[in-house]
Amino acid sequence: MNQRTVVVVSAGLSQPSSTRLLADQLSAAAVSAAAARHIDLKVQIIELRDLAHDIANNLLTGFPPAALKEATDAVAAADALIAVTPIFTASYSGLFKSFVDVLDKDTLAGKPVLIAATAGTARHSLALEHALRPLFAYLHAVVLPTAVFAATDDFGADSADGTLRSRITRASEELARELERRDPVTVLDPFALTTNFEDLLKTM
Ligand SMILES: Cc1cc2nc3c(=O)[nH]c(=O)nc-3n(C[C@H](O)[C@H](O)[C@H](O)COP(=O)(O)O)c2cc1C
Repeated sequence: MNQRTVVVVSAGLSQPSSTRLLADQLSAAAVSAAAARHIDLKVQIIELRDLAHDIANNLLTGFPPAALKEATDAVAAADALIAVTPIFTASYSGLFKSFVDVLDKDTLAGKPVLIAATAGTARHSLALEHALRPLFAYLHAVVLPTAVFAATDDFGADSADGTLRSRITRASEELARELERRDPVTVLDPFALTTNFEDLLKTM
């Protein structure tokens, strides 16, 4: 089995959070879709609620506190990202956008990103297309064709096998396909010694 990692960013504020519920459903479907392609997919969930103060501090000072640095490093090292936000005032939430704002500008370049959102009403489902997709396209991410939107009613028992389930499955298969055709992400250590000591001594 090939090993790959996906980071799942969940920006829900409520406890329990419907955004986290959708994030968990997407994670489970991604693991199954990857396993069908002989990929052992490790999932790391990042709850932005827990990092809200750190994100504000980073915006004010320019420096990430340790827990936030760990989260942004995890995003950089991941083979793919699943980004799930609640819709606030017809767009992504401020916390979600602020987290994206503290990522280095090249972090998401070339990385597959599955975008997803929860909301009170289906009327705002296009926020995924007019807000999230352009945001990640600007950062040169590879945004998957299927975006997953879940309004409150979509979580009801009647719809468990309906549209939401089929979109989750389709988006997860697109993610697994992207993982399969890419080499794993390797993160370069900026402090790594690139010349050996013998060569360094020769120059003295
Ligand atoms: C400040 C605020 C603004 C919201 N704006 C919208 C909106 O414009 N459209 C919508 O459909 N739902 C809106 N909602 C509802 C949330 O998107 C919805 O309840 C979401 O699923 C909450 O996610 P959570 O349970 O993970 O916190 C808003 C909620 C809040 C608190």
